[in-house]
Amino acid sequence: CPCPALYPYYHQEDSEVVVVDILRAGTSMVAAFDHGAKEIIPVATTEEAESFLGKGYVVAAERNAMRCPWADLGNDPSEFTAERIGGRSIVFTTTNGTQAIHAAREAGAAEIIVGAFSNLTAVARHCQASGRAVTVLASGWQNSFCIEDTLYGAALLDKLEELGTTYRLTDSSRTALELYRQHRAHLYDYLYNCDHNQRLIQRGYPESLRLCLEQDCSIHIPTLNEAGQLYV
Ligand code: MLT
Repeated sequence: CPCPALYPYYHQEDSEVVVVDILRAGTSMVAAFDHGAKEIIPVATTEEAESFLGKGYVVAAERNAMRCPWADLGNDPSEFTAERIGGRSIVFTTTNGTQAIHAAREAGAAEIIVGAFSNLTAVARHCQASGRAVTVLASGWQNSFCIEDTLYGAALLDKLEELGTTYRLTDSSRTALELYRQHRAHLYDYLYNCDHNQRLIQRGYPESLRLCLEQDCSIHIPTLNEAGQLYV
């Protein structure tokens, strides 16, 4: 049976790592595949991303919740439309989400996938079928805790339970699950004042939270291959 854990990321070589950045990188990656992206190449630095400009890629780059001025796209799910990214390869760098993917890769996870509320049930079914221990790697914000990523981990546990999976709770997952069950009926209101939503509102993205909480509108599970590219 899978044994979900939450942030901090415990080194587990054989685990299924679900990388989570609800606001917004993970949700944007799922949206990109929903709208026909061919692949996503997550890169760690803005310099590396910039080096792909003019080479046939769509370059999406964000720092501090703002689009990098030289990039084709920023990091809002609403930007990843079929017209802009359908059939294209996307090079993607963000403040925390793409860093978490690299951290999971360096730690030697058995498989690395991207989870969001939009693909929650698909990810839960995938974890259930894999039979591996599951680590939810919450990207957070600049090495600090983010409540929306933690609540996603809890939502995944809740979904696994609904699907009939038995699991062992750690202290962090037990706490998260209790919090999620207390607030699941009004998640938008509960998360409205969270640090990163307030940051996004200040930066001109008042609709991001609502978009990023849309549940089960996707069956796509971005999965990292050996070459370090995400595909579905
Ligand atoms: C990140 O990777 O830190 C986030 O997705 C930031 C953002 O909201 O753009």
